[in-house]
Amino acid sequence: MKFFVDTADTADIRELAATGLLDGVTTNPTLIHKSGRKFMEVVEEICGIVDGPVSAEVVALDHETMMKEAEILRKIADNVCIKVPLTIDGLKTCKALTDEGTLVNVTLCFSANQALLAAKAGASFISPFVGRHDDNGFDGLKLIEDIRLIYDNYQFDTEILAASLRHPIHVLECAKIGADVITAPPAVIKMLSKHVLTDKGLEGFAADWAKTGQTIL
Ligand code: G3P
Repeated sequence: MKFFVDTADTADIRELAATGLLDGVTTNPTLIHKSGRKFMEVVEEICGIVDGPVSAEVVALDHETMMKEAEILRKIADNVCIKVPLTIDGLKTCKALTDEGTLVNVTLCFSANQALLAAKAGASFISPFVGRHDDNGFDGLKLIEDIRLIYDNYQFDTEILAASLRHPIHVLECAKIGADVITAPPAVIKMLSKHVLTDKGLEGFAADWAKTGQTIL
């Protein structure tokens, strides 16, 4: 399973990239706003930190303008992945861009039928929003399961990029279902390394080591 981080905070991206676990980055207009930085500049910096796909989202709603925005965004770096919304105009843009060999992430997916359309449009990635689905009284993980089943039934190459993950159980369940990629905020990814018994064990070892009166350095 690939790990993407869902942030435009380059300090967090650098820290996670140094662990070797990072396969890519996803951003969206909200995360760009949160960074307080210029969109193009921050995407360019992120593309220099990770080798894998970096999702940069178009903001236009119509196909023609989406194509113009994508043209500008994909020139930033070879690893830019154009993020388009799951609308008919977004799907048209997806088809046109993937036909030209550009990576495309179709976002704001809330149903398996939408995911089926994205695969038919040749999407590189489909982003079902697990947490937002849960927030609205649906079962976000069931959505991932349904998409996995449908994509496997027809051998679609589109990768399931489980997004809007809020906690470690979301990540665990996505791994069990077989999502190809997860994207989560830095805090959620860091939480995966935590265990109360790891902390307790470390405390015990540190206390006993101090009693030996020795040093390694
Ligand atoms: O980038 C898309 C998605 O991961 C957003 O997550 O937490 O804002 O629903 P969230």
